[in-house]
Amino acid sequence: MTEHRVQPKLIIHGGAGSSLKGGISAVRKSLYAVIEEVYAMLLAGVTARDAVVRGCQRLEDDPCFNAGTGSVLQSDGQIRMSASLMDGTTQRFSGVINVSRVRHPIELALTLQSCNDRVLSDYGSAELVRELQLPIYDPLTEIRLQEWMLERAGNFTKDMAGVVAERELVEDRAGRGTIGVVALDGEGRIAVGTSTGGKGFERIGRVSDSAMPAGNYAMSQAAVSCTGIGEDIIDECLAPRIVIRVADGLPLQAAFERSFEEAYKNGRDLGAIGLDRTGAIAWGKTSEVLLAAYHTGEKVGDTLEWQGQHRVAGVSS
Ligand code: GLY
Repeated sequence: MTEHRVQPKLIIHGGAGSSLKGGISAVRKSLYAVIEEVYAMLLAGVTARDAVVRGCQRLEDDPCFNAGTGSVLQSDGQIRMSASLMDGTTQRFSGVINVSRVRHPIELALTLQSCNDRVLSDYGSAELVRELQLPIYDPLTEIRLQEWMLERAGNFTKDMAGVVAERELVEDRAGRGTIGVVALDGEGRIAVGTSTGGKGFERIGRVSDSAMPAGNYAMSQAAVSCTGIGEDIIDECLAPRIVIRVADGLPLQAAFERSFEEAYKNGRDLGAIGLDRTGAIAWGKTSEVLLAAYHTGEKVGDTLEWQGQHRVAGVSS
C-alpha cells in the first residue's frame, strides 16, 4: 500500500429524481461495486483524475444508469451522450457533447485534457472517435428502447425519461439520470467527471449541463458533479457556484447549503455531490432522491434512502 499525505476520499452518483419504486438494492449494489474498485485504486496511489475516469467508465458500463450503455433515447430515437472531466490541480476542463456510438464518452474527455481544443460537439467528437480508432459501440438497451417506444406511442407527452432503467416500465416515473465521480487522492489532488445520455426525449442538438462547467467543475480546493434537469443546473451555474464559495473560504457543507437554498427558492430540480481538499464530503438535492455513495476511508455510505425534498448533508474528515 502507498504512503499517503492525505486520506483519499470518494463520492459517486447515478442520478437524481423521483422515488426508485423498489430498485434500491440493485442501485446500491451497482454503486458499491464501483466505490470499492475505485477507492482501492486511490489507496494504491492512482491519481484522482485516473480514478475518476475509471469510476465513470464503470458507471457508463452499467445499464442501470443513464450514461454510456443504458443511455436514454432522444426525441428522434437516437442516443447522444455527453461527458466532461475537470482536473482541480490544473483547473482544466474538457468534454464531448452529443457523441454517438462509443462505449466510454469519458475516455474522449480524458484524451481532450491534453489538447488545445478541449470541448468538442457532435461532429468533432465523431471525428475524434475515428482518429482514436475506437470500435463502434451501440449503447442501446432493450429497456431504454421500450421506454422510447411507449413514449412514442403516446406521441411524446413526457419531457424526460426515467432516472434509472428499471425492469418494469413505470408509467408515472420521472427521472433525471446522469453519473458522476469526485475524488481526492493521497497527494491531495482533486478531480471530477460527469457523463450522461441527457434528459431523454429531448430535441436534437440540445446541450446537456454534464459537458459544461455548470454541471462539472473543479478547483484545487473542491470539486462538484451535478445531476438533475440540465437547464436548471445551467441557470444556477451550480457546480462552480459551490466550488467558488469553497475557494472563497466557506466550508464545503455551508457552500452546499447556501447554494441549495437558492436553488430551492428558484424552483430547481437537481442534485449534486462534492468534496474538498480537507477531505469533507457533501451532497444535496431539491429532487426527491439522490442516488449517491461515498467512501471516507473509514466508512462507506449512501444517500439512497435519504428522502424528502431540499436537503443537504455530508461527512467531514
Ligand atoms: N443533467 C443531465 C441533463 O440534463 O442532460
